[in-house]
Amino acid sequence: MRLFVAIELSPAMKASLIDVQNTLYDRGVRGSFPTEENLHLTLAFLGELPEPQPVLDALSAVRFTPFPLTLEGMGTFGDLLWAGLRPSPALEALVRRLRRALAEAGIPYDRKRFSPHVTLLRRASGDLPGIRPDSASMTVEAFSLFRSDRGKKGMIYTELAAFPAERP
Ligand code: 2AM
Repeated sequence: MRLFVAIELSPAMKASLIDVQNTLYDRGVRGSFPTEENLHLTLAFLGELPEPQPVLDALSAVRFTPFPLTLEGMGTFGDLLWAGLRPSPALEALVRRLRRALAEAGIPYDRKRFSPHVTLLRRASGDLPGIRPDSASMTVEAFSLFRSDRGKKGMIYTELAAFPAERP
């Protein structure tokens, strides 16, 4: 199965991102807009693995305390449009810890540098207007392991397990 580790975004943060998508659409931008349930912040992409148990074991050893996450800015990777996050040492530390836990358990993952973003649009076409998401914030209380399957109407992401923060 195809696996990745991500933060599930709060309903309020998703609502801000949907607003941005709607504004883009209203201004003539076209492409493939991820649906609300598919908006997330990926922390590590593992790819195809035969079974999730070793990953669940590795991730359950990752410790962190709740921290804030705030939308900030937008950017592109080629024709992919994303919303950015305010720089966060706590987020960077969580990603370092969980990637180290995966590496120590011998679980392969995409080692590209972590570049925090939430994908808002794939295969974008049309002029991208200079819009900004409002600076919605949430508190990260957990991260999750997801599996990714190709459905008839696009990707289906299913949460397999959530790993909660420790109480500070
Ligand atoms: P993206 O939104 O920038 O495409 C599930 O595919 C999630 O894993 C997506 O959030 C995707 O990021 C991310 N991801 C990171 N590296 C990936 C890779 N090499 N292949 C596919 N998805 C990847």
